[in-house]
Amino acid sequence: MESTTLLAGKVALITGAASGMGLATARTFVENGASVLLADVADEAGAAAAAELGDAAAYHHTDVTDEAQLHAAFDAGVAAFGRLDIVFSNAGAAGDLSPVEQLTPEGLQRTLALNLQAHASAHKFATRRFRAQGTAGSIITTASIAALQSGWNGAAYSIAKAGVMALVRQTALENKGTGTRSNAILPGAVMTPMLPPMFGVSEADGPRFLEAVAAAIGGETLIGRTGQAADIANTALFLASDLSAWITGIGITVDGGAMAYTKDATVELIAGVAGEFA
Ligand SMILES: NC(=O)c1ccc[n+]([C@@H]2O[C@H](COP(=O)([O-])OP(=O)(O)OC[C@H]3O[C@@H](n4cnc5c(N)ncnc54)[C@H](O)[C@@H]3O)[C@@H](O)[C@H]2O)c1
Repeated sequence: MESTTLLAGKVALITGAASGMGLATARTFVENGASVLLADVADEAGAAAAAELGDAAAYHHTDVTDEAQLHAAFDAGVAAFGRLDIVFSNAGAAGDLSPVEQLTPEGLQRTLALNLQAHASAHKFATRRFRAQGTAGSIITTASIAALQSGWNGAAYSIAKAGVMALVRQTALENKGTGTRSNAILPGAVMTPMLPPMFGVSEADGPRFLEAVAAAIGGETLIGRTGQAADIANTALFLASDLSAWITGIGITVDGGAMAYTKDATVELIAGVAGEFA
């Protein structure tokens, strides 16, 4: 995509910015005029990404499940670039993959800590920061189509991502009249490093695995290819910019059309029964 000045003068904090969607979004935001504080636990990759992006980027070690560290990342963003206008709460992982029948309190809590509680903390600190500045900000959160339909990931992850949608609506309401907006992106299966470990594939085989998946299932999607991190980054750019100024409290599915039809071939099953009546 061609660069624009859509985010000129804006400052963004992005969590999970060392890889996948967060990294692609950091690049897109900088290309479109923003300064970006990249927050992650993957220090080597995060620092390298910030260095590649130049003066408009800085990296800060941040375990988002630790509120003190997340708060420090907000402070680091302000210290580096003077203000914050956009918070992309994006860090996440599959977590406990157990079915409900096997799910332990520990597995659920661990998954919720990263995929729900950390987003709630980010919404809290973003709301406080924008109020303190007296400015209208944009909060964007990475949810998932697992918030809408079961079968895409583990039970704990789906529960967390459904909770994220309630968080986004609630934050939109609590920011009534301030201009601050909160919206979610609900990606379908996107070819990032998150996928290989979910299917027991090693990190080393990850890139080859993602290429094989894209080749095997791309043609099955309505758009004719699998999702890439850039698809999410472009949606984040829209939600971060004033182009979406009248949009708040919603989720945008970015899934190549996966939610437009049912995976369960109920109609085909009924047609099979109808065949017996022909
Ligand atoms: N890839 C998909 O198919 C898919 C689909 C739907 C939603 N998502 C969501 O997209 C978001 C981004 O994932 P991705 O696909 O780019 O995966 P990714 O693994 O490429 O990136 C996730 C990043 O989050 C970081 N991270 C993990 N735990 C952290 C913590 N405690 N503190 C700070 N950073 C942490 C990782 O180091 C990594 O850099 C996640 O919220 C994920 O749940 C992914």
